[in-house]
Amino acid sequence: MTSYQRTLATLQAASKTWLITGVAGFIGSNLLESLLKLNQRVVGLDNFATGHQHNLDEVQSLVTPAQWANFRFIRGDIRSPEDCRKAMVFSHHSALHLSADYVLHQAALGSVPRSLEDPITTNSVNIDGFLNMLVAARDAGVKRFVYAASSSTYGDHPDLPKVEDRIGKPLSPYAVTKYVNELYADVFARTYGFKTIGLRYFNIFGRRQDPEGAYAAVIPKWIAAMIKGEPVFINGDGETSRDFCYIDNAVQANLLAATVEDETATNQVYNVAVGERTNLNELFVLLRDGLVVRHLLLKNAQPVYRDFRAGDVRHSQADIDKACRLLGYEPTHTIRQGLNEALAWYEGNVGVK
Ligand SMILES: NC(=O)c1ccc[n+]([C@@H]2O[C@H](COP(=O)([O-])OP(=O)(O)OC[C@H]3O[C@@H](n4cnc5c(N)ncnc54)[C@H](O)[C@@H]3O)[C@@H](O)[C@H]2O)c1
Repeated sequence: MTSYQRTLATLQAASKTWLITGVAGFIGSNLLESLLKLNQRVVGLDNFATGHQHNLDEVQSLVTPAQWANFRFIRGDIRSPEDCRKAMVFSHHSALHLSADYVLHQAALGSVPRSLEDPITTNSVNIDGFLNMLVAARDAGVKRFVYAASSSTYGDHPDLPKVEDRIGKPLSPYAVTKYVNELYADVFARTYGFKTIGLRYFNIFGRRQDPEGAYAAVIPKWIAAMIKGEPVFINGDGETSRDFCYIDNAVQANLLAATVEDETATNQVYNVAVGERTNLNELFVLLRDGLVVRHLLLKNAQPVYRDFRAGDVRHSQADIDKACRLLGYEPTHTIRQGLNEALAWYEGNVGVK
């Protein structure tokens, strides 16, 4: 039995109370789906800045009515300390109020280009909002505060693969905010004895990741363009590489981080990735080959190359040894396995909503 299978069995045997911020977003809604299927109680907080009601509706369609009844949604903003405070409590019809055991803090404004265009809003959501959440979680006495950190924190450090304790200078305002999150979490651990774990996500992809909008991530953006027969743009020469990581691996890392019993595993940050590297030219071919069966016109499709994008890290690949050793993390999906599942989902959803 793997650590993750043990964790799932333990959770199934005893329901806990969770708060997921950013619950209407890509990663948040996938965490919600997994936890409700495990019969957990979940409070979700979101202001729909980049998340969608249709993500919540989809989760509702995938769980039983009884499981859905274990979910409380709060439309609110992490920039409001009051909203953060309210979200720490799961209210029951019987007037029984349960305080959150675990927080999975996902709410933030993602995207490097967005942060270059509007650093002030990115800063207020990602730093002020983060601090509000830390204070509310500390005051509520939660057992563990797991938060979405980012591989962008490696910045200009040239080493590959990336090891947690060797970081460079941030290359974008977004990267600054995610690094500041780590600094605050560490100080809260030292000064208040508060238990935090930061998960440095490397390009996570999969069902419900938004393909629309100026700040869409590369995988959903390209899949949607290919399905619609639109051009696919590569920023730069296509040799830029990433450690693309399927959503199920990220969900696993969150559940392990929230529940790991070994105290030395807390107040740490961990890479969440697969440990492989795929460049954009290779990604283009993987997606085209995966979709061509049902979209014959893609057979001869070629990408359109344009300028490099400011703020982007050139190469990214994680060393996942620390997460494997201390959390028992074992990715279940390679990029290919993840893309197989993701493509099936996008085939059924692009242009439908
Ligand atoms: N997807 C990735 O590859 C990746 C990589 C590194 C880090 N991350 C981090 O993971 C987290 C989740 O990212 P995602 O890909 O699911 O993005 P997403 O945009 O789909 O989800 C973010 C959610 O947060 C909500 N939100 C934003 N501002 C808010 C506010 N002020 N108050 C309440 N809710 C707010 C949004 O409405 C959205 O539902 C973010 O913190 C992001 O920075 C993601």
